[in-house]
Amino acid sequence: DHTHADTLRTPIVAVLGHVDHGKTSLLDTIRGSAVSEGEAGAITQHIGATDIPLDTISGMAGELIDPSDFDLPGLLFIDTPGHHSFSTLRARGGALADIAVLVVDVNDGFQPQTEEAIDILRRTGTPFVVAANKVDTTPGWNPQDGEPIQKSMDAQSERAKSMLDENLYEIIGQLSDAGFSADLYWRVQDFQKNIGVVPLSALTGEGVPDLLTVLMGLSQRFMKEEMAIDVTGPGEGTVLEVKDERGFGATVDTVVYDGVIRNGDTVVVGGQNEPIVTEIRALLRPRPLAEIRTEKEFEKVGEIGAAAGVKIAAPDLDEAMAGAPVRVVRDRTVDQVVEEVKAE
Ligand code: GTP
Ligand code: MG
Repeated sequence: DHTHADTLRTPIVAVLGHVDHGKTSLLDTIRGSAVSEGEAGAITQHIGATDIPLDTISGMAGELIDPSDFDLPGLLFIDTPGHHSFSTLRARGGALADIAVLVVDVNDGFQPQTEEAIDILRRTGTPFVVAANKVDTTPGWNPQDGEPIQKSMDAQSERAKSMLDENLYEIIGQLSDAGFSADLYWRVQDFQKNIGVVPLSALTGEGVPDLLTVLMGLSQRFMKEEMAIDVTGPGEGTVLEVKDERGFGATVDTVVYDGVIRNGDTVVVGGQNEPIVTEIRALLRPRPLAEIRTEKEFEKVGEIGAAAGVKIAAPDLDEAMAGAPVRVVRDRTVDQVVEEVKAE
């Protein structure tokens, strides 16, 4: 079962960074999809969520990961827009995250929304790693599709290697200017003290095994206590988007970050005017590896546990609000939960 292990929930990984630095492409490579190509003007305009099961991660990480070292069920990736006008969505993604990937184009280095993303991560105290993306654009690069970055580096000319190094040290310097001590990830001993920089290419997939390995390691070593939740507790989540769905009317695409949501549950959802109290008619789960914002074939499920993306169908969701809380009432009173939602 890829939705949740016995007691540990899936860590939520937000992907943040400047416009066009390759966030959606990176997720496309991990999912084996082409969401980025379908976007208007190749610009992400919404937050997305994709559940990546452990077996996909370990398959992609190859020799770098031994799946028996991990008891986390996988990773839930949150894609965010880099365009400057979507700062609310970046902040929302950052607030949901247990850990984050800051994507930086290795040629462009830090840009305004890179700085903005760093500010969000600092404010929320979210641990992060830096994906130094687009290494394949280094002049004279000899691509090694899907390989770990060390293997790829070994196949490069001295000239290409030193050009890449120069760009990487530029980024490490910019991180230091922003107040973070950072180094190439294989030199980092303590990921709680130092930010690891992972050189990679979303286009060729080289270095992606390394990123997945670092993310799993970080989650397993440092987040395990936070991942140990009451998986049967009343579900809590955040609305990503309100969408009309044929046959269901208004639905809310939601990231569930705590507890469990069941079909038939009474829920309170933050609304444009006041909280909406309603009863769940259907829980629609995107397939594993599918991006909730583009998925067409949802599966109806009886319940869904944290962390996961789920489309909730229920009456009266027309006035639900993106970014608003979703709370299952379960054994509390409706009034109590309405007050809780109002207070958020
Ligand atoms: P926003 O969501 O709008 O902020 O952009 P994004 O960060 O999601 O960037 P996206 O993945 O849409 O990629 C932007 C462009 O960069 C696309 O044309 C990608 O094909 C290209 N690109 C992304 N990653 C790489 C890479 O590793 N190498 C090369 N050569 N191109 C890349
Ligand atoms: Mg994008």
